[in-house]
Amino acid sequence: MGLELATPILTGPVGTYSAFHADGDPAVVRATQRFGTAAIVPVLSSFTLEETAAAAPSAARIFQLLASGSVEKCISLAERARQAGYNGICLTIDAYPRGIRDRITESRFELPLAAVSANYDEDAADEMMLHTDIGECAWSWSTLRRVVEAAALPVMVKGVLTPTVARAAVDSGASAVMVSNVGGRQLDSAPSALAQLPAIVSAVGSRAEIAFDSGIRHGSDVLKALALGADVVSLGRAAAMGLAVAGEDGVLAVLRHLQEELTTTMALCGVARIAELGAHVLQAADAPR
Ligand SMILES: Cc1cc2nc3c(=O)[nH]c(=O)nc-3n(C[C@H](O)[C@H](O)[C@H](O)COP(=O)(O)O)c2cc1C
Repeated sequence: MGLELATPILTGPVGTYSAFHADGDPAVVRATQRFGTAAIVPVLSSFTLEETAAAAPSAARIFQLLASGSVEKCISLAERARQAGYNGICLTIDAYPRGIRDRITESRFELPLAAVSANYDEDAADEMMLHTDIGECAWSWSTLRRVVEAAALPVMVKGVLTPTVARAAVDSGASAVMVSNVGGRQLDSAPSALAQLPAIVSAVGSRAEIAFDSGIRHGSDVLKALALGADVVSLGRAAAMGLAVAGEDGVLAVLRHLQEELTTTMALCGVARIAELGAHVLQAADAPR
């Protein structure tokens, strides 16, 4: 995506940041600006993309959209993001339909529409929440290519778990792919994102940047992803939990903590610079002791 960042740790799109703390997405972006990294700002928000951009004007920002439903609305949101100064678009390909989540069903939890709909007009918000016809909403790769071409910004495709999908995304014009199983929240029995990472790096690593998320909780998790070929990692729940505890300062504390743990873990592995990380740093589980 061509961003110069002080650290390989980004905050990811969590479509309900303001349910974790009233300061929501603007607080997350202010924290990333202070830390010198990029935020992937979700379309599902109680703040408009312009409000979030204005909260941290010099932050690197990627705006996340859903690769489902109306193509025209998606393109017009990408154009709004470009005008608001976002540096790229992240297209999530695995968010629709929502996964089967028994605990949410049992608790009868319902997210208020206002928590996620600030970027949509009323009709679009209804459509977004209510559309159930998977056939109508799913995009083909040629549809995705249309959006990439119209976006006029570098595009990352998020939710890639196989080399075949990674190749299709890059062939459709993506500058980056995010290897992700959505933190295990969408498809029960989906493979671990980390296990899939090396094959995806071999397939497209020479043509596209590689981002990684799902399960980043410690500096050692960051190190493993970078050692297996990711250029950056992105935080989902870790960022949301930091926000819940202390707003902007909480997100910044999580970023700093992970960076410190990464530095310590690198030192313990005998590595001084991120560029020196590689699979040789990791020991296979069945390696002789
Ligand atoms: C409450 C919640 C809301 C999320 N909303 C979005 C979203 O709107 N768009 C998206 O691409 N990913 C969304 N994600 C997925 C995260 O971006 C990320 O892929 C996932 O949380 C990574 O796993 P981790 O939580 O273990 O870091 C959401 C995750 C959570 C926990």
